[in-house]
Amino acid sequence: MVAERPEHQLPTHVTSMIPDVVGRVVPGDQRGRTLGFPTANVLLGPDDDQVCDGVYVGAVAVRSGELRWAAVSVGTRPTYYGSQGVRLLEAFVLDYADDLYDHLLPVWLLAPIRLQVAFVDEQSLVDRLRRDVQHVRRYAARCRWTDMVGPDGRTGSRAGTTEQGGS
Ligand SMILES: Cc1cc2nc3c(=O)[nH]c(=O)nc-3n(C[C@H](O)[C@H](O)[C@H](O)COP(=O)(O)O)c2cc1C
Repeated sequence: MVAERPEHQLPTHVTSMIPDVVGRVVPGDQRGRTLGFPTANVLLGPDDDQVCDGVYVGAVAVRSGELRWAAVSVGTRPTYYGSQGVRLLEAFVLDYADDLYDHLLPVWLLAPIRLQVAFVDEQSLVDRLRRDVQHVRRYAARCRWTDMVGPDGRTGSRAGTTEQGGS
């Protein structure tokens, strides 16, 4: 099923893993770029009910089908919208600068980091995002899957060791 669409052509040792979410990347509020953490935004539908709100170590398949590490957030962005926000998935893709708009994005939620919370101010959100990304990089560095998700051919212990990039 995963390999049916070109976007889902992944390294052979991952094709057995069904993505937790596959969704079209839509325009966000463009706030992420200002915060220093631009995200690929995917609206969640009724079929995505099994995905719990929270922040995760994740992986996404970009347009080429290549896998990248990502800090993934699922929820209503309570800092800005309380519980009234649209429920969506946002992926900050590490070391990736290309536009993912309109791409059908497969997302794997590999490990939970924390719950989404309402931060008192934007700086507190940014500080926490920075820690979330560090968490993903640490996970990437010790995870045996680094050969699977090493971006730009950076694999093994080199994966996840660069400074913060943007998407
Ligand atoms: C790793 C990560 C964790 C996040 N955690 C929270 C959170 O705890 N609370 C919150 O309100 N928003 C959280 N967000 C969402 C940000 O508020 C959102 O990315 C930012 O407002 C930019 O939105 P935009 O892409 O629509 O411009 C998180 C986003 C990411 C990528």
